[in-house]
Amino acid sequence: MDSNTNLLTVEHVSLHFGGTAALSSVSFTVKKGEIRAIIGPNGAGKTSMLNCISGFYRPQEGSITYRGTDLTKTATPKIAALGLARTFQNIALYTGLSTLDNLMAARHIHMKQSSLASMIYWGAAQREEVAHREKVEEIIDFLEIAQIRKAVVGALPYGLRKRVELGRALALEPDILLLDEPMAGMNVEEKEDMARFILDIHERRGTTIVLIEHDMGLVMDISDRVVVLDFGIKIGDGTPDEVKDNADVVKAYLGEG
Ligand SMILES: Nc1ncnc2c1ncn2[C@@H]1O[C@H](COP(=O)(O)OP(=O)(O)O)[C@@H](O)[C@H]1O
Ligand SMILES: [Mg+2]
Repeated sequence: MDSNTNLLTVEHVSLHFGGTAALSSVSFTVKKGEIRAIIGPNGAGKTSMLNCISGFYRPQEGSITYRGTDLTKTATPKIAALGLARTFQNIALYTGLSTLDNLMAARHIHMKQSSLASMIYWGAAQREEVAHREKVEEIIDFLEIAQIRKAVVGALPYGLRKRVELGRALALEPDILLLDEPMAGMNVEEKEDMARFILDIHERRGTTIVLIEHDMGLVMDISDRVVVLDFGIKIGDGTPDEVKDNADVVKAYLGEG
């Protein structure tokens, strides 16, 4: 695939809950290797869009094509196995487990040998376990969370929990990383750290990133292209500079709160 290939193609996706239209015929593409932001005021439909991509919500209309597969018709666990991993707006970790165990669990859920096979081929399972452990330790080093590897995540400060959640998504070694407001609720320093990790993942692994963010300023610095949603409708799509000067976008943000 060259760098102009669309890895993800969202076409006319509509999602409603009763009378609420969370998404109205939204279309956009994500190119391989880009950092693609989805921004918009609260309630714009950003999380709903990400939920449609990851198979948590099923849109009533439209398609989302990834490497020839329509994700709207693909079972949710299969979507993760195809190489898409996500984080949640509200952290979803095993709060009673350590950092290390949360990352190991991610690898086991998606890559385990069948339990029968691991009983028969005990040696192979052991080698697999060692390989998982090495990968997880590498991610822990990369995210600079070695000092909390044994800490129970429920007891960690918010910013660190967010980082562990990113680590869990990375443990799946995804081709596309879907991040739902990874910097929300963080102080300036934590936000800068998180932005640096996102850029590093992108640079080192070539991971394609779909980044949802409420704060317009933040994403403008790090994203290649931006989709702007407002009340479930796409009102802008382009480079940060193009989007910044779009009158509809300015209005949507000024009209807020
Ligand atoms: N599970 C749901 N049930 C009912 N309404 C929902 C659900 N999820 C989202 N919505 C509605 O869809 C709209 C978009 O929400 P959301 O995608 O969370 O926006 P954002 O992430 O941009 O803040 C909102 O009006 C919200 O109330
Ligand atoms: Mg949201």
